[in-house]
Amino acid sequence: MQLLDGKATSQQIKDELHVSVQSRKESGKKIPHLAAVLVGNDGGSLTYVNAKVKACEQIGFESSLIQYDDNVSEEELLAKIIELNNDDEVDGFIVQLPLPEHIDELKITMAIDPIKDVDGFHPENLGKMMLNLPAFLPATPAGILELIKRNNIDTSGKDCVVIGRSNIVGMPLSIMLSRNTNPGNCTVTLMHSRTKDLKQKVREADIIIAAIGRPGFVTEDMVKEGAVVIDVGTTRVVDESKKNGWALKGDVDFENVASKCSYITPVPGGVGPMTIASLMINTLKSMDLRNK
Ligand code: GUN
Repeated sequence: MQLLDGKATSQQIKDELHVSVQSRKESGKKIPHLAAVLVGNDGGSLTYVNAKVKACEQIGFESSLIQYDDNVSEEELLAKIIELNNDDEVDGFIVQLPLPEHIDELKITMAIDPIKDVDGFHPENLGKMMLNLPAFLPATPAGILELIKRNNIDTSGKDCVVIGRSNIVGMPLSIMLSRNTNPGNCTVTLMHSRTKDLKQKVREADIIIAAIGRPGFVTEDMVKEGAVVIDVGTTRVVDESKKNGWALKGDVDFENVASKCSYITPVPGGVGPMTIASLMINTLKSMDLRNK
């Protein structure tokens, strides 16, 4: 069993991006600027956004964090998005999800100028991704592909199951793994709450991606010997032994599954850091799109 060390791989990517930024600086070019919008005070979202801002600092990108209370109106948020779309200093920006219930996430996502949509959530970017055209790729799926690629895992012709059909992970990832790209060329089954014989189908897979947010869902009996297992889950569970009283738990029962796998991601330290590295790759890419 080999651990897919997302923390180390993401550090490697950040180091490469740092070199690119330094050379931009030396040739007098603009330094990429990422803005992040955070609504409310959900602990998980705050942690992720802070990690994104910190990654910008490590690489040498400019960054801004824009925070609103839970009760911000949709109009106020839309006005900020228009402002960011028109702000020439900001090259890319994200609105951290989920948003409070009174705000229409799709409306917010669609208000973002696709050329600054470094999360790759706008329908224009998702559509281009489907057609294999240049586009911002959604950060978590792109991070998973990068982790697979940098560990030289062969995906061509493999049977892959993606458990969970969210707009930001499962759905786009199932398409990205099906495309005629490397990594890609998998035969993908996208699984959800209505899937029948789920356990049996997972057991037949060469590659298992778990992205449903149910701690320990993938158990030992669902994994065939030598499978590649990627765990996207990051649920906070009570853990009295931890100083803050909780621990992050993945969708895979790591303890019992790991020994059966050829490769497996840990939680934390697997997919999470790769999501941030992908966002940073997209932020640098935004400079080309905007001819900066
Ligand atoms: N919430 C969970 N993952 C993400 C992400 O990659 N981007 C944004 N904006 N929100 C998220």
